[in-house]
Amino acid sequence: MATNTFRCSVCGKRIKVQSQIDMPIIDPNTGFTVCKNCIKDLYRIIEADERQRLELSRKNFAWGLEGFLEKHKPHIIKEYLDEFIIKQDRAKKILSVAAYNHYKRMKYDYFEKNGVNEEIDKSNVIIIGPTGCGKTAMISHLSKLLDIPFAVTDASSLTEAGFVGADVEVAVRNLYYAAGQDIEKTEHGIIYLDEFDKIARKSGENNSITADPGHEGVQQGLLKMLEGSVVEFTARGQRKHPEAPTIKVDTKNILFIVGGAFVGIDKIVAKRIRKGEASLGFGVDVPAKEDDDEKFNELIHQVRPEDLMKYGIIPEIIGRLPIICTLETLDEHSLLRILTEPRNAPVKQYEKLLAMDNVKLEFTEDALLAVAKKAIERKTGARSLKGIIEDIMLDVMFEIPKSNEPRKVVVTEACVNDGAEPEIFPLEENENILSENVSSEGVSSENVSSEGVSLKKNFS
Ligand SMILES: Nc1ncnc2c1ncn2[C@@H]1O[C@H](COP(=O)(O)OP(=O)(O)OP(=O)(O)O)[C@@H](O)[C@H]1O
Ligand SMILES: [Mg+2]
Repeated sequence: MATNTFRCSVCGKRIKVQSQIDMPIIDPNTGFTVCKNCIKDLYRIIEADERQRLELSRKNFAWGLEGFLEKHKPHIIKEYLDEFIIKQDRAKKILSVAAYNHYKRMKYDYFEKNGVNEEIDKSNVIIIGPTGCGKTAMISHLSKLLDIPFAVTDASSLTEAGFVGADVEVAVRNLYYAAGQDIEKTEHGIIYLDEFDKIARKSGENNSITADPGHEGVQQGLLKMLEGSVVEFTARGQRKHPEAPTIKVDTKNILFIVGGAFVGIDKIVAKRIRKGEASLGFGVDVPAKEDDDEKFNELIHQVRPEDLMKYGIIPEIIGRLPIICTLETLDEHSLLRILTEPRNAPVKQYEKLLAMDNVKLEFTEDALLAVAKKAIERKTGARSLKGIIEDIMLDVMFEIPKSNEPRKVVVTEACVNDGAEPEIFPLEENENILSENVSSEGVSSENVSSEGVSLKKNFS
């Protein structure tokens, strides 16, 4: 470029332009120009502004903690979980305390540490329990309550770097978006890794055919995050390539909760206990319970780190998950309660749906019991309850909207067991469409069902 003189449109100075860098912006159409010094100044102003905003967001976040702590005392969190999750009291307590402590650690970091190098270690949690017992449900309700970002990532979808699939960084990226792309919030959020048992090593004692050796690589990747490291990832929708801009998040203060069914872990526990007893000279089969579920429940609460190691989780990871939270198999009585008691209980949901068509829905106690029994047979915990009810309700949902007459639909035990059609009656004048009973307290009948089981007693 030959030397030319231009006047900068921003500062008004005349600039001798020897190279394009002297006057980086020259619009030949409008004659608008910006000189190098003005661009440098602008850059400095923008950087200072961004720093200030970050500092402000940090301060706001820190000042908000006092209120968070007040609103999220463990008993308040547990009460909230109680509205949705039946049984699993110990697990609800553990999670409530873990969430509360997470807030306290943050407060300590901001206000009480005062330059002292004494950290309060975070206590990541591992949740173990059979399928359909409420692991994912509990976490998803917890996440709705907490004011800190919370993201759930399916560990089974993660692959070792270099393989097709999502890298472990995806878990942090999900949290970053859950935090509204605010780094400060992301760095204090909670990550839940669901289906964690699916990344167990194949050489572990579980006989899962889905596990593969690559899972050890995933575990190694996760280990770095659990230990606290700066994780770099690209924005959503951006292809990964060396020049792609990355977002950096320090995972030091992120709370990790991992959960999975760990099918077969009870056998590992039983074997360990049996070995221990044999070495002490006892020849007892442990535990001596008749009922399979009781046996399972007794064993699951005895899971120790070495059992998880046997299952195929690397010791370094287990060391980073100091809190073991175990959930029990749900028995018939618990399933019965799940049908009607939680705020989002399946029966309540259908009741509300039919009410929109002017129809009152009633399940007889025998019918509810039959649904619970059927779910027990399917061995998928509470997971199958909704499906069973859905099957029964399909025809009703199809027929009912044909008329606007107020009616009552009664689902009986025969509908559940023999595929009988639910009975439809005209609605009596004194009947309300939405029964207060069912929506607030579950079935409050003291009647004895055909099975001779007092429902009232079962619910207590
Ligand atoms: N203890 C419970 N109280 C109330 N509802 C429950 C309970 N356990 C399970 N459910 C209901 O059953 C369904 C399945 O539960 P969830 O997804 O939590 O199972 P899970 O323990 O995560 O099982 P998996 O190991 O198969 O993922 C959900 O709709 C949930 O609402
Ligand atoms: Mg689950």
